Order: sequence, then structure tokens, then C-alpha cells
Amino acid sequence: MPEPSWDRLWTDIHLATMTDPSLGIVRNGAIAASDGRIAWVGRAADLPAPRERLAAEVIPCGGAWLTPGFIDCHTHIVFGGDRTGDFRRRLRGESYAEIARAGGGIMSTVRATREASNEELTARAAARARELSAWGVTTIEVKSGYGLDLDTELRMLEVATGLARHVPAHISPTLLAAHTLPPEYSGRRDDYVRLVVNEIIPAALAQGHATAVDVFCEDIAFTPDESRAILEAGIAAGLQGRLHADQLTDQGGGALAAAVWARSADHLEYLSRDGVHAMAEADVCAVLLPGAAYTLGADRRPPVGTLRRAGVTMALATDANPGSSPITNVGMILNLACILFGLTPEEALLGFTAAAAKVLGLEDDRGRLEPGRRADLALWRVGDPAELCYWMGASPLEALVKDGVPVDATHA
Ligand code: NIG
Ligand code: FE
Repeated sequence: MPEPSWDRLWTDIHLATMTDPSLGIVRNGAIAASDGRIAWVGRAADLPAPRERLAAEVIPCGGAWLTPGFIDCHTHIVFGGDRTGDFRRRLRGESYAEIARAGGGIMSTVRATREASNEELTARAAARARELSAWGVTTIEVKSGYGLDLDTELRMLEVATGLARHVPAHISPTLLAAHTLPPEYSGRRDDYVRLVVNEIIPAALAQGHATAVDVFCEDIAFTPDESRAILEAGIAAGLQGRLHADQLTDQGGGALAAAVWARSADHLEYLSRDGVHAMAEADVCAVLLPGAAYTLGADRRPPVGTLRRAGVTMALATDANPGSSPITNVGMILNLACILFGLTPEEALLGFTAAAAKVLGLEDDRGRLEPGRRADLALWRVGDPAELCYWMGASPLEALVKDGVPVDATHA
């Protein structure tokens, strides 16, 4: 009898392959992995031989639903301290921008992060990453941005990269040295922009961890011109471009992201119609972050209908961070995306898989269940994939597979 050709075969499952706008559903499906990649996917009835002969290990799944491992394409999970003080101030009526202008907000996290050791930062970020794993996340983008000096920005990227040793996830680090102007540069904005362009970006490249560069373009952070200079420098050096755009005010952020050929513009509550069309033209993805809109009580919603009609790829992420989105619960984000932002459950689920892969430049490698793609799989105890968006309870994750190997999603 010939040797089984696959390492593992999962059967008695329904698949949401994410290969079309209706999620590419295959009921009564099966999927096989070999050498970390998907080797076969389709209807169980079409398997080429009796299952025991096909794989070294056959795993029956009792009718559960399988999706690609989720991809959280926008997080800030490495940070020191917490922002419960800001939380109380906002509950008393101060706005996010007022707190930031008074030296709280991002700067209070910068102070705590600069003081924390790499070990402390790692332990706390790993706990947050494990919370994401428990929600089926197998790829996590992690931003710096709470260092705002050369040394701490590089430390944050190093800690982010090291998280892969603590959690069964691929980590995609992003340099966000332009998150806000540190007070030691107040009145010397150009000097800080020069520091980022001439020193921090080259040092991050030499260190070799960062795959993208990001800027917070906002009236409490960096102007469109400053943002453009930093993005252009990072992109010219080979990093992918990302932009915190049009979150609190219309800064023309969507159009700026398009002008520099960034991969994504994120937040977008104040994105203009022209911004949508510029993004569509340049194929810039929209990353929607309903956790931040909810937490900050935003008075505007991203123009989801216009984005949809223009054919802009819409991804979704937790934006997990201590200030504006203290959330690692992917189910809550899927729910908020539908209820607050008006996404369909299909758009929300594609937003955490195929669309998020595109944001990270990984669309040929993951985010869909197709032969050749990485076998990162999440198995869910739900009767319908839309239940992941609808039911607000504990994570219904039943099993997680990273690179074809079953992993413990809580105690990795
Ligand atoms: O994505 N908008 C800027 N950056 C983060 C917030 C970071 C913070 O408040 O610590 C965001 O919402
Ligand atoms: Fe963010």
C-alpha cells in the first residue's frame, strides 16, 4: 500500500474558505496539510481515496466550522503601564484629544514604556497575544510607537518580534516612531521628523525586524506634510506604508496614503469622498477599527457604503492598545463592525482573513483556505460562521492549527 501522502487530514467539517464574497462555503468538506501548507481542500465526497489511506493522521471534527487563522493587521500590544486614569477622565467628559494635549494619552504610555524592561514588556504583551490566539488569531501585526526615541523604538520592535516565541502566531512588526511628538521636541517638530527619517528608520532597517512604517496623521500628532516625508522615506527604504488616517478630523489622509502607494489607511471616520476614490484608484486597503470608534464614542462612522461601492478592500482589526481600543476580543470587534459600522458578517469575516492578509502583503501566503497557502486554521464550535459576529460570549474556538500543526491556543 502506498505511504499516505499528507501529514494531516481534517474531516467532518464545514469550510469558510474566504475565496469569494460569500465566504467560499464548502459544506461537508475536508482539508489536508503537508509540510505546513494546505495540500488539499474540497468536499469530503471528492477525496481521492478512503481517508485512512490519505494521511498519517486523520482528525474528525464533529461538524465544526473551519476558517483560516485570523489575521489581526493593526495592534499596539507592546506597551508599559495602563490608561485607567485616562478612562476615568473620558468618563467624566474629557475628550481623547484634550487628554492628549494635556500630556496624558499616548505620552503617558510612552513614559511607562520607556521605564519598562524588555522582560516586563514581553511578559505583558505575550499575555495579550495569547488572548488573541484564544480568538483564533495566527498572524499579529504589532506596532512600536510608545518609545519615540531611537533606543525604545528599537526595543519595542525587538520585543514584538520575540513574541513569536511565546505564542503560536506569526508576528509582523511595524515602525510607528511618528505616533506623537515627544515633549522633548516641542517647538522643534522638524528636528523630530528628521530624527525619524535620518536615524530611526535606517536603524530599524539595520535591525531587520520591521516590515512596515506607519504614521499617526492627525492634528494632535503629525501633519500631512510631515506624515508624507516619513512615509516616503520608509517606503523608499523598502518598508510597506501604513497610515493612521482621518480618525478624529479630515486631514486628507486617505488621499495621502494613495499618493505614496501605502498598503492601507486605517480608522477613516472622517475620510472624504475624494479620499475614498483616491484609495480605490491606488488599491489602498481600508482598515476599519470599530473598537476605537466605540471606546472613544466617535461621532462619525467610516463611509462604509462609499468604500464598498468604490471596491476598496475593507479589512478589520482590533487596534488593541491601552488608550483607544483596550480590546483583544475579536468576537467583540466582529460584532461592533456589523452593528456600529454596518458591515455584513461576510465582510467582517473576510476583513479578519483575506483582506487583512492583503494589508500585510501576505495575500498569496495566507488568509484563504486554498492549496499552497499556509495551513493556519481555526476550528469553531458554531452552527454558522455569522455566529462569530453575532453571539457575544466566550471564544467558541475549538482548535487552532499553525503551519499545519495543532497548537494549544491558550498556553503556548
Ligand atoms: O490606533 N490613533 C492613534 N493610535 C492608537 C491609539 C494609541 C493610544 O491611544 O495609545 C489608535 O487608536
Ligand atoms: Fe492604531
